[in-house]
Amino acid sequence: MPKQYFFESGTFPDLSYTELITVLSSFGLPKESITRYGNSIFLLQHKKLTELTVINIFKRLGGAIRVGEIVEDIDTFYTEQKKEGKLIFGISILGDIKKSDSSFLKRLGNGIKKQLKEYRISSRFVLPIRDGYSLNAAQVIKNEILGKGFELIIIRNKEQEIYGRTIQIQDLEGFVNRDIQRPGSNLEMGTLPPKLARMMVNFTALSSGTIWDPFCGSGTIPMEAAVLGFNFLASDIDPKAVEDTDNNTKWLYQEGYITDTLYQSFYLDVTKPDSAVVKKLKNTDIHAIVCEPFMGPPQTRLLSDVRARELLDDVKNLYSKLFELIDIKLAKRGIKVVMIIPSYKTNKGWITFGIRELVGKRWIVKNSEYSPTRDLKWSRKNSIITRNIFILERS
Ligand SMILES: C[S@@+](CC[C@H](N)C(=O)[O-])C[C@H]1O[C@@H](n2cnc3c(N)ncnc32)[C@H](O)[C@@H]1O
Repeated sequence: MPKQYFFESGTFPDLSYTELITVLSSFGLPKESITRYGNSIFLLQHKKLTELTVINIFKRLGGAIRVGEIVEDIDTFYTEQKKEGKLIFGISILGDIKKSDSSFLKRLGNGIKKQLKEYRISSRFVLPIRDGYSLNAAQVIKNEILGKGFELIIIRNKEQEIYGRTIQIQDLEGFVNRDIQRPGSNLEMGTLPPKLARMMVNFTALSSGTIWDPFCGSGTIPMEAAVLGFNFLASDIDPKAVEDTDNNTKWLYQEGYITDTLYQSFYLDVTKPDSAVVKKLKNTDIHAIVCEPFMGPPQTRLLSDVRARELLDDVKNLYSKLFELIDIKLAKRGIKVVMIIPSYKTNKGWITFGIRELVGKRWIVKNSEYSPTRDLKWSRKNSIITRNIFILERS
């Protein structure tokens, strides 16, 4: 039997699941190699998978926190973990949590320590903070747990419990750095969280090529695309956004996140495309368009139904213009589009519009291939706007 691996999803398991399927497909692996274990754990097994491939897959993901291998024999596991010097270990429980778990973790950790001592292995046990059930990424990294010992994972669903050993943890620092430390940002308009930008780029199921973001803002999507190894075009109606994207890309080079990205950022109003720019777009081999278009002015209060409909009409017109441009000038078989359509919360409930109001039959909507509910949503608690993500491919 090939080895089995686990991935722990981030805060949005359906998005993470879709991302894993699309990244697997870019590695030539079928979605049937994934089994969903509970809501937030994905088990992966395939005869072509090596640990190195698993790590390379994991490194591309925005929506996975941990990756590890499934431990078949828990009885021999601890003593096989001998490392030079003091062994440092932690335990995390993922999936279905019980109230008694934080005291269970302490007992189990102390039991393992004792067992290791019998084998003359001295060890230090790191507990999750605040009586929690799993170590956070910072704890795993700071305590050098993966280098100097192990993180044992107890993976539970409603029926059973299996065990795993963490191989790698998400590069949280990189995502936070690119979010906060980059020189250009538009606080008023808001920027996409880099992890979501990363997931959207991955939804293209491509691993190289050129991506265009026609509503680039300060360039979160192009930046993540570049870090993944894509070349990019980035455009916006706002010259400051174009400048920010340019400065942010230079910063990515300075910080060593990228080394050989080809890119261009330029002014473009998608409702009045300049013919010289359109010519440039036409002459570039664009593989995918990935964008978070303008979603109307930022909202802090519940909208009236009438106002929300007005805003939706405006954004629908804007997005239609983008598709006119793509359909007339750029559409070629196989080109992908990953984009967001907003839902607004109103005094009468949530409202939005359907993707079919924007695109004709020649565009295949891929959501249903990936998500059982077809919905790929991202929203913050109590927010007035939800982002609905659509994955399209031109037939
Ligand atoms: C939601 S923001 C994108 C933010 C971006 N994803 C980021 O993380 O920085 C939408 C962008 O669309 C741009 N925009 C609005 N109308 C446009 C138009 N007609 N043509 C091109 N860009 C437009 C705005 O200037 C804004 O930068």
